[in-house]
Amino acid sequence: MSGIRLLVSDVDNTLLGDDEGLKHFVRWYERVRDWLGIALASGRFYESVVESVETSALPEPCAIIGGVGTDIRLHPTGKPLDGWHQHIGVNWDSTRIRQILSQDHDLEPQPDELQSDYKVSYYLREASAGQLEELDRRIRAAGIEAGIVYSSQRDLDVLPARANKGLAARFLAERMGLHQDAVLVAGDSGNDLSLFQQGFRGVVVANAHRELQSLKHDDVYRATAGHAAGVLEGLQYWLRDEVPAVEHH
Ligand code: GLC
Ligand code: MG
Repeated sequence: MSGIRLLVSDVDNTLLGDDEGLKHFVRWYERVRDWLGIALASGRFYESVVESVETSALPEPCAIIGGVGTDIRLHPTGKPLDGWHQHIGVNWDSTRIRQILSQDHDLEPQPDELQSDYKVSYYLREASAGQLEELDRRIRAAGIEAGIVYSSQRDLDVLPARANKGLAARFLAERMGLHQDAVLVAGDSGNDLSLFQQGFRGVVVANAHRELQSLKHDDVYRATAGHAAGVLEGLQYWLRDEVPAVEHH
């Protein structure tokens, strides 16, 4: 028995991005939905993810991790998970971070609707490792405990040190009474890296960015298919002894 009971999956370019693949995924998921829950983990905020669920074939999740892990809500109630903001807000000051980074002309602030008290986001194309280290150093020098997450060779998120998708998924799993072995994660880009660093099993879709290329441990399955078809391939790989192969019609 794999024991997997929860899929925590990224949305954009993981479950979304190929409608045909998503259709297959959903058809398969219908057969296991009674015992396999889905939590969506996105860089976008709750309302935006809900809109995607309502306007696409995405299955109904039991929870949504939004804003790159800075927000955790149960779904469909939208109720925030108690204690998360108190937990991540330690030694964190978003106003101060915006001040410190405002002098940096390479950083283009993302639109206001993508910002929050716990998420400071910019665009920075093709950043080098050195550039990211320098930003990290400047923030630390101000005594703020932050983490820098770089995705899609474009998106730069500055988050509380205790918040990212992986840490949020761990918090959610604990609240749901699930052991790390019961969780499977899926993703395609830099902000998903933390999902693979919590002792969960995982699947990297074939269309993943090079940011996930260095992931090599035994718990990570690299799908040959992209997007939702790749997530399905990974689920079937990890659940092989629990779910018979899908019939093709
Ligand atoms: C989503 C968010 C954006 C963030 C990116 C990477 O696109 O809207 O703010 O920078 O994910 O985490
Ligand atoms: Mg993605």
